[in-house]
Amino acid sequence: MGDFMPVLLIHGGVARPSYNVPSVLFHLQKIAIEAYSMFDCGKDHVDVVEKAVLLMENDPTFNAGVGSVLNLLGELEMDAAIMDGSTGMAGAVCSASFPKNPIRLARVVMEMTPHVLISGRGADILAEKLGFERHPGPTEEILKRYGEMRSKLLSGDGCDDLLSEVRRVIKHINYFDTVGAVSSCYGKVAAATSTGGIWMKLPGRVGDTPVIGAGTYAWLRGAASGTGLGEAAMVTLAAKSVVDRINNGRSVRSAVIQTLSEIKKHTGKIYGLIAVNSSEEFFAGQTAGRLAWVAVKDGEVFQGISVSRSQCN
Ligand code: GLY
Repeated sequence: MGDFMPVLLIHGGVARPSYNVPSVLFHLQKIAIEAYSMFDCGKDHVDVVEKAVLLMENDPTFNAGVGSVLNLLGELEMDAAIMDGSTGMAGAVCSASFPKNPIRLARVVMEMTPHVLISGRGADILAEKLGFERHPGPTEEILKRYGEMRSKLLSGDGCDDLLSEVRRVIKHINYFDTVGAVSSCYGKVAAATSTGGIWMKLPGRVGDTPVIGAGTYAWLRGAASGTGLGEAAMVTLAAKSVVDRINNGRSVRSAVIQTLSEIKKHTGKIYGLIAVNSSEEFFAGQTAGRLAWVAVKDGEVFQGISVSRSQCN
């Protein structure tokens, strides 16, 4: 690999109340190592982030793909995005329910369509037409939790009640296990993110993940992927802020910390970010809660739980 040391950094989401730290790190480590090994087979920065996210989508530990949480009506509405910093190309899908792996569909949008973001029915039709594997439906555990939440949290029957109850429910849910990956190889960077969104969201709600610049961004020397309450990243364009700072000469650590400070000040919400630069520096941090991450750099594995606001290489 010459002077370049490929790096892959992945996260399993921020602020899950029942976070089983050793278990989450175990799953992340296995996935990071498998995805990273693609560099040895000649695959590039985009292939590796897509693979890492796809493996997390296939693991019900995480809120993405097969482990996706449900909206207020008990439906799947998954979001995903991918971006190649070396070309500036991006692809995303939102509110998709058909594909098992929305990140694959996002890559198809990036590479095979003239579009950037395909939503709902259109995304599902595209996935079906392309012969994508169908989502197996929510896991038993997800269905059980949905039933519990519904009976515990929703009691109103009128529209006003419903809206105020949704606000209350969302305020009390600290479960945002979006997954994401960033990588750097031969000076090229990429980012990918996937999620089932947030529990009990209003049908049709779209979060930060598929909004290019909010939850996912890669350009020139920097790539970032976010997790947490999506609305916080949408009003601050969190991922783009990190990448802009990196391209303006900031270290990855400083770019992430400054962006998190802004998010905290502006929204007061829980949000986490991972980022890399084209010199293979990486960093993970969050405004509150906990963020589990694993990185592989030049074959060496690093891991951590960011508990305050910072962890880095
Ligand atoms: N960050 C995931 C979401 O808010 O949908």
